[in-house]
Amino acid sequence: MAISLSMYTRRAFFLNFFQWVQLILCFTCLYTFFLQAEGKERDSVFQEEKELSPNEDLMQEHGVLNRLLLIYEEIEQRLKTGNDVPAEALLQAASIMKSFIEDHHERIEEEFIFPQLENRNILVDLIQTLREQHLVGRDITHYILMNGSQLNSEEERQEIIQRLHAFITMYRPHEAREDTVVFPTLREALTEKEYKELGEEIEEAEHTLFGEEDFDEIIEQVVAIEKLLGIYELSQFTPKSN
Ligand SMILES: [Fe+2]
Ligand SMILES: [Fe+2]
Repeated sequence: MAISLSMYTRRAFFLNFFQWVQLILCFTCLYTFFLQAEGKERDSVFQEEKELSPNEDLMQEHGVLNRLLLIYEEIEQRLKTGNDVPAEALLQAASIMKSFIEDHHERIEEEFIFPQLENRNILVDLIQTLREQHLVGRDITHYILMNGSQLNSEEERQEIIQRLHAFITMYRPHEAREDTVVFPTLREALTEKEYKELGEEIEEAEHTLFGEEDFDEIIEQVVAIEKLLGIYELSQFTPKSN
């Protein structure tokens, strides 16, 4: 009797032990599953947050345009005062202006943003002017790319100075009008669903039509030109206090 009781106790112990192990394993599996599911959900939310809306995207690109205009201003000033200008600085800046601003940013505006307002008969005259300015800008950029390496004679320098000045003068109010009037009006005119769909259409077009531009790479190229011209350090633009 004592032997069978001991056997029973041992069997009961092992049964309990294995039941506990199974329970712990089950609990661990479930816990891991929930953690992974939560992680995936968090990743997808984060991914969604990382996607820029059309307006955010275009305004970020205006930041690049602004930095290129600053480079143009520096080159214009150097040419006016007879200082040296590294030829590659002007050509590289004009090349980014063409590939990133004119062939990418402005094509998105012309093919996706402006038609949304034109089709609703909103800001039609303003958009007509913006379209015309894109064309004039392309002519100027073409001239700079064709002639920017020949800055030997005074006449050649003057031709470039005049075009740089015209370009800067036109594009500062151009982009400001887009940032403060066109983009906010677009956001108001479209429903949440339409605005989201527009963002998806633009993203799709960037893959298939325009080719994806690596924003970080563009910024690196801009920084290299700024450093070449000695205008990279932001603090140099802070007025000196007395
Ligand atoms: Fe524009
Ligand atoms: Fe723009």
